[in-house]
Amino acid sequence: MRDFLIAGNWKMNGSSAANEALLAGIVAGVPGGSGFSLLVCPPYPYIASVAARVAGSAVKVGAQNVSEHESGAYTGEVAPSMLADLGCEYVIVGHSERRAMYGESSFQVAAKFQAAQAAGIVPILCVGETLEEREAGTTESVVDYQLGAVLDAAGIAAFAKAVVAYEPVWAIGTGMTATPEQAQDVHRHIRAQLSKKDADIAAQVRILYGGSMKGENAAGLLAMPDIDGGLIGGASLKAKDFLAIAEAAARS
Ligand code: 13P
Repeated sequence: MRDFLIAGNWKMNGSSAANEALLAGIVAGVPGGSGFSLLVCPPYPYIASVAARVAGSAVKVGAQNVSEHESGAYTGEVAPSMLADLGCEYVIVGHSERRAMYGESSFQVAAKFQAAQAAGIVPILCVGETLEEREAGTTESVVDYQLGAVLDAAGIAAFAKAVVAYEPVWAIGTGMTATPEQAQDVHRHIRAQLSKKDADIAAQVRILYGGSMKGENAAGLLAMPDIDGGLIGGASLKAKDFLAIAEAAARS
């Protein structure tokens, strides 16, 4: 049985004061029950203070990006071992904003995925199509390519300790959520692709949905058989909004 993972990607938002207010609200309001976990992914400079703030609570800490290198002359980069040292259990790799704005290739994303795992961190591999690609009918081939690069590099066994996030680019920050059926179609496809390599691993890997997920649409998305949680941007920045999604996971 797959537990839900409700993950907040804070992107480049926050301050010491804002983070404290947000985390105080989240920690105080974690819904009862089981079957889900909560994760926050703050910007690098706040990881240590956020990890200290949530210690002992049900909230875990992750990062939004990581270097594919272990150490050395890579100015401005952050190594996987450093994230592990600070208490990160997860790291987002291949977010569409990094692919589009920072030119990350699927091969680089695969290297980040492997480097994270080598440091004991669970990668959250983001895949998803643009609006043009969806309209051209190429959603599945885009996702296959992004997933395939990681499968080729890391192998299916690596997915036993990984999370996949389907984030249609057209749904990110636009308010245009994929319908539960649209999302489920792609999630089912991703699981089927993994299942061709190993049915047991495919059955247990969590596949999150991301793209304008909020309290009002979370229950419908999470009710789908292949949707195992959310990767949430905007709605992760207010405790009330993030907790509304957590509550949908606790109920679903
Ligand atoms: P929004 O929830 O703001 O659409 O962002 C989704 C996302 O990109 C999470 O990684």
